Amino acid sequence: MAYQNITAATEDGVAVVTLNRPDVLNALNQTTMNELVDACEGFDRDEAVRCIVITGAGRAFAAGADIKEMAGASAPQMLAGYRFQQWERIRKITTPIIAAVNGLALGGGCELAMLCDIIVASETAQFGQPEINLGIMPGAGGTQRLTRAIGKYRAMEMVLTGRPIPARQAEAWGLVTKVVPPEVVLDEAKGMAREIAGKAPVAVRLAKESVLKAFDTHLEGGLDFERKCFYLLFATEDRAEGISAFLEKRKAIFKGR
Ligand code: HXC
Repeated sequence: MAYQNITAATEDGVAVVTLNRPDVLNALNQTTMNELVDACEGFDRDEAVRCIVITGAGRAFAAGADIKEMAGASAPQMLAGYRFQQWERIRKITTPIIAAVNGLALGGGCELAMLCDIIVASETAQFGQPEINLGIMPGAGGTQRLTRAIGKYRAMEMVLTGRPIPARQAEAWGLVTKVVPPEVVLDEAKGMAREIAGKAPVAVRLAKESVLKAFDTHLEGGLDFERKCFYLLFATEDRAEGISAFLEKRKAIFKGR
């Protein structure tokens, strides 16, 4: 599929998807979301791709859902046909996804970053849920993932005032993994992605699924799930290779088997 609003490329087992509507701060319209899902699902099916990085062109990661596109929508239209299905499809991607947040991550942009598994942010990035200023509220995880990440009281401040926070504050509050200078944000994310791409792929996918399980299950259920995944990995060739390589003091060569 030829893309209009994103670019997608792969290198060394890492796919980089760039939101590419810089004139409108990468506002997430339907076409952009369709393309993003198509690219991420395609990479998820590709055994050669072991980690995905999502970033934005220009000064924004994404400034939210496309307000112009939403302007005329009725509640039934939002319910029936809008983009929430795409968000669910991204949630189901089993390959790890790293957000390289190069600038503004607002509204749906902040929610997209939070849908990723790791967030590397530029020192100049800002995170916010400004929907309240439009007379609406977050609709793609901004009240749920944000609250789980930073806690009730800080999430309330962000969601109810709509004020964005700078990257360093987001880091202090536990919303981002790492903050780096703007010129290296993508390289840092790609470096982390290459590191993950070198690990045993089945273990990586099950580990991602297990961490995410912590968000929607009680402790006992989560521990049960974790243990089953752990047992399952003992059926893989990569487990035998990883342990042999350790005992033989050499680097493991994982095949995803
Ligand atoms: C459509 C947008 C946009 C958006 C910016 N633009 N954000 N277009 N949807 N979300 C456009 C502007 O209209 C403008 O286009 C161009 O991008 C540059 O933006 P400026 O406003 O001129 O830049 P600046 O003065 O630097 O202000 C940056 C800004 C501001 C503070 C980020 O653009 C802003 O407040 N944007 C809206 C942010 C927001 O409310 N996001 C939440 C959306 S609701 P023109 O053509 O005029 O040059 C949401 C709900 C998600 O995300 C629900 C889940 C799906």
